[in-house]
Amino acid sequence: MSRYWSDLVSQLTPYVPGEQPRREQLVKLNTNENPYPPSPQVLQVLSAVDGDALRLYPDPDSTELRQSFARLHGLAPEQVFVGNGSDEVLAHVFQALLKHALPLCFPDVTYSFYPVWCDLYGIDYRTIPLADDFTVRPGDYPAENGGVIVPNPNAPTGVLMGLSSVRELLERCPNSVVVIDEAYIDFGGESASGLIGEYGNLLVVQTLSKSRSLAGLRVGVALGNAELIEGLERVKNSFNSYPLDSVAQRAARAALEDEAHFRDTCARVIASRERLSETLAGLGFEVLPSAANFIFARHGQRRARELFAILRERGIVVRHFDKPRIDDYLRISIGTDADCDALVTALEEIL
Ligand SMILES: Cc1ncc(COP(=O)(O)O)c(C=O)c1O
Repeated sequence: MSRYWSDLVSQLTPYVPGEQPRREQLVKLNTNENPYPPSPQVLQVLSAVDGDALRLYPDPDSTELRQSFARLHGLAPEQVFVGNGSDEVLAHVFQALLKHALPLCFPDVTYSFYPVWCDLYGIDYRTIPLADDFTVRPGDYPAENGGVIVPNPNAPTGVLMGLSSVRELLERCPNSVVVIDEAYIDFGGESASGLIGEYGNLLVVQTLSKSRSLAGLRVGVALGNAELIEGLERVKNSFNSYPLDSVAQRAARAALEDEAHFRDTCARVIASRERLSETLAGLGFEVLPSAANFIFARHGQRRARELFAILRERGIVVRHFDKPRIDDYLRISIGTDADCDALVTALEEIL
């Protein structure tokens, strides 16, 4: 606390990201990173970086990268906005498109950054309870609202909402922007990006942090009709002209071009997820059906808080959220098969 802080800063409760431990030997299953390296073509681009790439300012519009995203999704570059990780893209979305007189709506169990941005930007919000099985019920959302944002698959549950439910939400709320945060969509869902031509109020947000193994590069994207994108550009150009450095722009394009590597790593993560889910069920866990690169599970007899602490002592880091409805669950990122085996061995001993 300092007397020099603004009232707003004094009142903020910032988001706390999962721990990035310094100890190398830890089995790190807490922040949903991809356990496999990015495309070798990305590494090639990075090793070829020359002084000029750093001496000059980058393209403020990330023109070529936006073209790459547009090609990938069958959209025009004017329908693509890029930023420094999808967290930055989302922050701009909250400010540009979700701050209105009526409250913004999002699930009661969801990405815990959403209420933080609401507090930062003074956005009124209302949480809509998920069903008992943690699915989103579009009919529970008020037709008139200041906007809707839902991760699909949801975080931290991993539960997927089908495209028919996404359509239902869009049709129910034609007067506000519906944001589908698809950070984990490549691990088992179908993107709503194909619906952008039909729904002018749809904004899809994705990231290269998870399925493209580039959490350290910080590249996120929003896809939607050109007017929504222009709104985001207005905020971005009032905040930071150069959110993506030249190296990130080049490397991200290389990642998008390597479709084979992308498909292969996603398939490996999905196979490990299914294997781990089955094994944990055998150890007495109830595992929610996941379409993400993590699972959300609770044990019939042992408290999640206790398991979290014992695993941490054994050098295995998972995530526990001390929040209503989910404090009995552990969120476990899918690691390599060796990581998952280490977790299972530890759990077998503990239980
Ligand atoms: C639902 C969801 N959206 C967005 C993000 C942000 O990802 P990034 O800023 O790395 O693109 C995360 C990160 O964990 C997430 O879980």
